[in-house]
Amino acid sequence: MQLALSAQLLAGLVAPLALALSPRTEIADSYDFVVIGGGQAGLVLGGRLAEDTNHTVLVLESGGNGDEYRNRIDTPAYSYFDSLWTTPLNWGFYTVEQPNANDREIYWPRGKVLGGSSAINGLYMTRPGENEINAWQSMLGDMDGAENWSWDSFYSAMKKSETFSPPTDAVEKQADITWNSSTHGSDGPIHASYTGFTFDQVGQWSEACANIGIPISADMYGGSNWGAEVSTSCINPSNWTRSYSRTGYLDPLPDRGNYDVLANAHVTRIIFDSTSNLTANAVEYTPNNGTTKKTINVTKEVILAAGSVGSPAVLLHSGVGPKDVLSSAGVDLVHELPGVGQHLQDHLSATIKWTTDVETAGSIFYDNGSERNNPLFLTYIDSAIAYVNASNIYPTTLESELSTIQSKLTTYAPNTTYENTVLEGYKAIYNTTAQIFNSPTGLVELLFMNSDGNGDVGITAALQHPYSHGRIYINSSNPMDYPVIDPNYLSNPSGMPLPPILRTQDSQPKLTSTSDTSILTTALKLARRLGNTTPLSTNLTAETSPGSSTQSDSDWETWIRTNAGTEYHPSSSCAMLPLSQGGVVDANLRVHGLANVRVIDASVPPIALSTHLMASTYGVAEIGAAVVREFWDGGVQGGIAFSGGSLTNSSSSSSSRSSASASASASGTVEKNGAGGGMAWVRGPSWFWGVSLMVGAGVVFV
Ligand SMILES: Cc1cc2nc3c(=O)[nH]c(=O)nc-3n(C[C@H](O)[C@H](O)[C@H](O)COP(=O)(O)OP(=O)(O)OC[C@H]3O[C@@H](n4cnc5c(N)ncnc54)[C@H](O)[C@@H]3O)c2cc1C
Ligand SMILES: *[C@@H]1O[C@H](CO)[C@@H](O)[C@H](O)[C@H]1NC(C)=O
Ligand SMILES: *[C@@H]1O[C@H](CO)[C@@H](O)[C@H](O)[C@H]1NC(C)=O
Ligand SMILES: *[C@@H]1O[C@H](CO)[C@@H](O)[C@H](O)[C@H]1NC(C)=O
Ligand SMILES: *[C@@H]1O[C@H](CO)[C@@H](O)[C@H](O)[C@H]1NC(C)=O
Ligand SMILES: *[C@@H]1O[C@H](CO)[C@@H](O)[C@H](O)[C@H]1NC(C)=O
Ligand SMILES: *[C@@H]1O[C@H](CO)[C@@H](O)[C@H](O)[C@H]1NC(C)=O
Ligand SMILES: *[C@@H]1O[C@H](CO)[C@@H](O)[C@H](O)[C@H]1NC(C)=O
Ligand SMILES: *[C@@H]1O[C@H](CO)[C@@H](O)[C@H](O)[C@H]1NC(C)=O
Ligand SMILES: *[C@@H]1O[C@H](CO)[C@@H](O)[C@H](O)[C@H]1NC(C)=O
Ligand SMILES: *[C@@H]1O[C@H](CO)[C@@H](O)[C@H](O)[C@H]1NC(C)=O
Ligand SMILES: *[C@@H]1O[C@H](CO)[C@@H](O)[C@H](O)[C@H]1NC(C)=O
Ligand SMILES: *[C@@H]1O[C@H](CO)[C@@H](O)[C@H](O)[C@H]1NC(C)=O
Repeated sequence: MQLALSAQLLAGLVAPLALALSPRTEIADSYDFVVIGGGQAGLVLGGRLAEDTNHTVLVLESGGNGDEYRNRIDTPAYSYFDSLWTTPLNWGFYTVEQPNANDREIYWPRGKVLGGSSAINGLYMTRPGENEINAWQSMLGDMDGAENWSWDSFYSAMKKSETFSPPTDAVEKQADITWNSSTHGSDGPIHASYTGFTFDQVGQWSEACANIGIPISADMYGGSNWGAEVSTSCINPSNWTRSYSRTGYLDPLPDRGNYDVLANAHVTRIIFDSTSNLTANAVEYTPNNGTTKKTINVTKEVILAAGSVGSPAVLLHSGVGPKDVLSSAGVDLVHELPGVGQHLQDHLSATIKWTTDVETAGSIFYDNGSERNNPLFLTYIDSAIAYVNASNIYPTTLESELSTIQSKLTTYAPNTTYENTVLEGYKAIYNTTAQIFNSPTGLVELLFMNSDGNGDVGITAALQHPYSHGRIYINSSNPMDYPVIDPNYLSNPSGMPLPPILRTQDSQPKLTSTSDTSILTTALKLARRLGNTTPLSTNLTAETSPGSSTQSDSDWETWIRTNAGTEYHPSSSCAMLPLSQGGVVDANLRVHGLANVRVIDASVPPIALSTHLMASTYGVAEIGAAVVREFWDGGVQGGIAFSGGSLTNSSSSSSSRSSASASASASGTVEKNGAGGGMAWVRGPSWFWGVSLMVGAGVVFV
C-alpha cells in the first residue's frame, strides 16, 4: 500500500546529515543521569540535560531505533494508511475487560521506539488552556516548586519547544485556516504547521460548527483552547515530514561526548542503595527480553519518562507503590507509595460515520482517486477540531448538571485502593474537574475525520475531562510481562439511575445522568447534528454508523458501551499531588519519599487536559528539564543546542477538493509481551546512517 514519493520529495528525505558521529561500541558503566524511556518526553530530557557538558546522560529505550520504518514514521498520511500499529514499534496493549463497556478488552496502542508515541501518533498539535493549567497549579497548594506550574510558565515552555510555520496559500484558502503567530514558538525543536494538501470539507468545518453555536476559536494556542478551528500538526513543512522528539531533540545534536542513547534496552527496575535512604544508585535493564540483565550506575538522578503506562510499571517493579499491588504481584516492597498507577484518566471516544459523494483521503488512497499520485497528498492528516463546552452540551440544564456533580464530590471514587490518601486524590481531581465543567473549556472534543478505509467521513466525539478514573498496576513480578491497564471506562456513577433493562450485570453502574455515558451521548447527538448542518451536510449522503435506528438515550448508551474506545490520551498515573492526596510526584517532579528519582512525562498532570497530549507533554518535559538543571547547576546557562533553523515554506499548491475522514488502521497483531529483540546502541545521530553498532542476539540494524 505504499506510494512512492516523488523524486523531489525523496531527494529532500535523503539529504545528508552534517553531524554524523563515529560509531561507538560500548556505553559507560556509570552516568550522572539515567533517563528511563526514550519516548516523547525522554528525548527532550536527554537532549536538554546533555546541553550541560558537565553532565553525563544516558537514555534507555525499550523499543528499537525505528530506522527500518523511517519512511512510514516520517510520512504524515501513513499514520492512517500504513500505520506503525502493526509493527514492533507499538506495544499493542489491551485494557482488562471493561465491565461498563460490554466487558470488552480495549486496544491501547503506545509507541515503543525512539520518539515513543510521538513517532506513531496522529500529529495533532493542540494545547491545553490557561484555566486548566492554573487549576492544576492550584491543586499543588504551597508545595515547593508549585510556582513553575502556572499557565505563564507552561505557555512559555510549550512555545520554547516549537517552531511555527503558516500554511501554504492554497491550503489556507481551501481549509479556511486562521492563526496568530505570536501565540506560537519561533525557534524550538518541534515544527508546528499544517498539511500541504486539504479538502473542501475541512474548510466547511468551522462554519458548520458556528452554525450550531460552537464559536470559531479566536485564541486556541494562547490559553483559550475552546471552539472550532483547523489545528496545527507536527509537520516540518520544509520536507513535509513528521516532526517528533527524535527529529527535534536528538537527530540534530552535535556529539559533545556526554550523551548516549541506547535502544532495545528495557528497564527492569531501579536499584536503591540499601544503606542510604531510598537513593537510586543504579538502573537494571535487559537487552534481550529478560534473558540477561545489566546494570548502569547512577551518580545524580534517575528520571522516569516511560509514559503513562511504563512509568508506573517501572516504579512498581522496583518495589515502589501500593503494598496490596506489590504483595499480590510478588514484588518486595521497597517504599510504600499508594498512589503509583492510580488516578489514571483517558479520553474516551466514539465516531459517527457518513457516506459522501465527494472524494475523501480514504477513497483517494484506497480507490486510486484523482490525487493518488500527487506527492502532497501524503502530507494530509486530519486536523479540523472543536472543543465544545458544557453549555453547548447542556444548553438548558447546565446548572442542574453542575449541582448534581457537586453533590457527588465526596462520594465518588473508584474502588482501586486500600488507602485513604488516594481517595482524597480522587476527590480533589473530581472537584477540580467539576470546576472546569462550568467554564468555556471543552468538555468534549469533536474531530473531523476523512481517512476511513471505505471512504466514509466521520465525526468523533471524545470526553476531555472524564469522571471515570482507573489505574495501572502489575500482576506479575516479571518485568517483561505487560502491566495491567484498567481505565475503568464509563464507571462514573453520579446522577440518575440507569434503567434496569440496560443493566446486564450487577457490576454495571446504576446511574447515568451527568455521567461520562450521558456526556458522550449528548456529544454524539451534537456530532450528528453537526454532520446534518450546512455547509458540511451538503456532500454527506447517509449516516452509516450508528445509523438512524440509534435515537433514544438508551440506544446511544448501548452503542457507546459497545463501540467507544480510547482517543490515546491516558494521563495522570503518576499524579503530581500532595502525598496526602495520594500523589506520586511533588511539584519538582520528585517521587515522594525517594531521594533522587523523578517522573517527567504525560503521567504527571493530575487532571486530564482538554487537548491532544503532545504539546502539553513537551511543556512538562521542557519545564522538567529546566527544573533538574536549576537544581544541579543553579540555573540554565546559554548555549542552547537546538535551532529550528530557517524554513522555506514550500508553496506548492494542490488543487483538490473532496471530503475527508478517518480512521485507520486495523488493530495490530503484535506480540502481547516482551521487550524482545537485539540491541543497537546509538549515540547522537550516527545511527541515522544505519551504522550498526553493538549487536546482541544477532540483530543488526542497517
Ligand atoms: C496512536 C496514538 C495516537 C495519538 N495521537 C496524538 C495526536 O495526534 N496528537 C497528540 O498530541 N497526541 C497524540 N497521542 C498522545 C501522545 O502521543 C502521547 O500522550 C505522548 O506522546 C506521551 O508522551 P510520553 O513521553 O509520556 O510517553 P511515550 O512517548 O509513549 O514514551 C514512553 C517511552 O518509554 C518507553 N518505555 C516504556 N517502558 C520502558 C521500560 N521499562 N524501559 C525502557 N523504556 C520504556 C516506551 O517504549 C516509549 O518509547 C497519541 C498517542 C497514540 C498512542
Ligand atoms: C527534513 O528536514 C529537516 C530539516 O528541516 C531535516 O533535519 C530532516 O532530516 C529532514 N527529514 C528527512 C527525512 O530527510
Ligand atoms: C557501581 O556501583 C556499585 C555499588 O555501589 C559499585 O560496587 C561499582 O564499583 C560501581 N561501578 C562503577 C563502574 O562505578
Ligand atoms: C560546568 O561546571 C563548571 C564548574 O562548576 C561551571 O563553571 C560551568 O559553567 C559548567 N558548564 C556548564 C555548561 O554549565
Ligand atoms: C521555577 O520557579 C522559580 C521561582 O519563581 C524560578 O526561579 C525558576 O526559574 C522556575 N523554573 C522553571 C523551570 O520555570
Ligand atoms: C495574537 O496573540 C497575541 C498574544 O496573545 C495577542 O496580544 C493579540 O491580540 C492576538 N492577535 C489577534 C489578532 O488576535
Ligand atoms: C531517611 O528518611 C527518614 C524519613 O524521611 C529520615 O527521617 C531520615 O533522617 C533519613 N535517613 C537518612 C540517613 O537520610
Ligand atoms: C489501484 O492501483 C493499483 C496499482 O495501479 C492496483 O493494484 C489496484 O488494484 C487499484 N485499486 C483499485 C481499487 O482500483
Ligand atoms: C472493593 O474491591 C474489593 C476487592 O476487589 C472488594 O473486596 C470490596 O468489597 C470492594 N468495596 C466496595 C465498596 O465495593
Ligand atoms: C473543592 O474545591 C473548592 C475550591 O478549591 C474547595 O473550596 C472545596 O472545599 C473543595 N471541595 C471538596 C469536597 O474537596
Ligand atoms: C460556552 O461557550 C459559549 C459560546 O462561546 C459561551 O456563550 C458560554 O458562556 C460558554 N459556557 C461557559 C460555561 O463558559
Ligand atoms: C456537493 O454539494 C454541492 C452543493 O449541494 C453540489 O453542488 C455538488 O455537486 C456536490 N458535489 C458532489 C461531487 O456531489
Ligand atoms: C519475552 O518474555 C515474556 C515474558 O517472559 C514472554 O512472554 C515473551 O514471549 C518474550 N518475548 C519474546 C520475543 O521472546
